[in-house]
Amino acid sequence: MAGGRGLRRSIIRMQESKTAKRSRLAEHALFLKQVIRNPRAMGSIVPSTRYLSRVIGRLAATGLRGPVLEIGAGTGSVTRAMIHAGIAPEQLHIVELNRGLCRHLQQQFPQATVITADATRLSACLPPEMVGKYRMVVSGLPLVNMPREVSEAIIDEIKTCMTADGRLLQFTYLPFSPLSESRHALTARRIAWVLRNVPPATVWQYQNAGAALEEPA
Ligand SMILES: C[S@@+](CC[C@H](N)C(=O)[O-])C[C@H]1O[C@@H](n2cnc3c(N)ncnc32)[C@H](O)[C@@H]1O
Repeated sequence: MAGGRGLRRSIIRMQESKTAKRSRLAEHALFLKQVIRNPRAMGSIVPSTRYLSRVIGRLAATGLRGPVLEIGAGTGSVTRAMIHAGIAPEQLHIVELNRGLCRHLQQQFPQATVITADATRLSACLPPEMVGKYRMVVSGLPLVNMPREVSEAIIDEIKTCMTADGRLLQFTYLPFSPLSESRHALTARRIAWVLRNVPPATVWQYQNAGAALEEPA
């Protein structure tokens, strides 16, 4: 009897892991399709691994309460990790440039707010009452692939949308900060290394230079 129940549970677990694997493969295929269409905007050939996503999810869920803004969510690997780490999907506002990816994100996270827009127009595309209210912004944007004036315009927009003590998390595949802290009056801190990513990545945390940098929990 007990053995039968155990067997049933193992079969259910196997079926669940097969379903998860299938949906991961489907997300990789969707991501790759967008890479073929616009490699520069995608900035990578595969979504962030679950290891990098988990690190960012935990950092985003740490300490600060309130709505979280994610920019450049792709197929949603970091989004899923943030929800897993305890951020309520209703608290997530997602801005993504690619229409096909936005449709996918809205299906996957029906309670989140998904906005199809270019991050250079961030403050104009968010609900007006939210501008200046985000204490946590998570960016998957390939800043280093962009012309400098574009990436600078995006960071200016992000700063407009953040609270004075807000934090920006940004990952990069380069060994140095992907944005100029002095140009944007930000303090920067390399907060994590993740080797189990393709390619290995580092996560940076930025805050307004006037705000005291808080220790990660
Ligand atoms: C490297 S992918 C990151 C996807 C996901 N966050 C992850 O970690 O797997 C970069 C994402 O940024 C989006 N993106 C690029 N330029 C953008 C822009 N100007 N505004 C909004 N999203 C943009 C791309 O469409 C793509 O989904």
